[in-house]
Amino acid sequence: METESRVTAGRGKLFDSIVDTIGDTPCVRVNRLAPDGIRLYVKAEFFNPAASVKDRLAISIIEEAERRGDLRPGQTVVEATSGNTGIGLSMVCAAKGYPLVVTMADSFSIERRKLMRFLGAKVVLTPRAEKGFGMYQKAVELAQANDWFLARQFETKDNAKIHENTTAREILGDFDGDRLDYLVTGYGTGGTVTGVGRVLRQKRPDTKIILSEPANAQIVGSGISQQRGEDGAPAASHSAFEPHPIQGWTPDFIPLVLQEAIDEGFYDDLIPVPGPVGMEWSRKLAQHEGIFTGVSGGSTFAVAMQIAENADPGSVILCMLPDTGERYLSSLLFEGIPEDMTEEEKALSLSTPGFHMPAD
Ligand SMILES: Cc1ncc(COP(=O)(O)O)c(C=O)c1O
Repeated sequence: METESRVTAGRGKLFDSIVDTIGDTPCVRVNRLAPDGIRLYVKAEFFNPAASVKDRLAISIIEEAERRGDLRPGQTVVEATSGNTGIGLSMVCAAKGYPLVVTMADSFSIERRKLMRFLGAKVVLTPRAEKGFGMYQKAVELAQANDWFLARQFETKDNAKIHENTTAREILGDFDGDRLDYLVTGYGTGGTVTGVGRVLRQKRPDTKIILSEPANAQIVGSGISQQRGEDGAPAASHSAFEPHPIQGWTPDFIPLVLQEAIDEGFYDDLIPVPGPVGMEWSRKLAQHEGIFTGVSGGSTFAVAMQIAENADPGSVILCMLPDTGERYLSSLLFEGIPEDMTEEEKALSLSTPGFHMPAD
């Protein structure tokens, strides 16, 4: 059967800045892994310019602060981040001319540090034993000592607001006139679930929202409330937290931004997922669908597959994929992916006469 050749024709507009390309990420169908009779889609946040969902948060924090006059021209921005917020902020601050200092526990992947430094940011490492709480306190110290602008991703109203105004509207637009039975997401700050929850509960009340967290760090599932200071920031590390391999998910406290989703009942079910299972699904998405996402994307997808296996025929599911797998080259996600040729690859090389590598 003859199919037509692909042709593209541009977007019909020119962009004034890289930051104007943030958002409007595509919802892409999963064809080979989805069970028969289920339409499963992923919202591919790695199409954002710095390749993660956090680009949305970064532009919101900076532009809302500019609008309010909280951020002076040329003032240094500082934030505690396990990576994607830092990379998003590095991109936005570079484009808009703000110096950026990021504090980050030394347990996170090397490529994240390097990416931020490549984008012009300074990265101040904190000891991993002090967990997320330590890196956050370091950012507060630096902001107070230097009169810098603290981005406060875990507390700021500008976090869920951007998901309400962009992510949620995109979902409404893309599923207009269609079913949408389930939305599946994890949480880091909770911006995605809170912002999308505000809108879907109003406009698509039949859509079930499924939240996920690491199986060994079920801080929401524990039902134990979070101690907070007056500004809503955590006053202590949460007792149900354990270090987990799903970078970007579940810090060692319940963020204020996420608290709204808990209090308002913005999710219908909370499903834990073990990190190694998430990594397995990240590999499968890459190898069977050509969809390249990180550990949190694989983990969210693991839960989406669990929902898909039990859903009524005809169900439509949307799964958030927060970032690209390229961010995890030095992490466990790539364990077992060899640098040198495998025996099978060597045999392939020797199967034709030319261009053999020297024998080792
Ligand atoms: C890799 C990754 N996955 C998921 C999330 C969760 O997004 P949110 O902060 O909107 O809850 C984040 C951000 O924290 C992230 O960096």
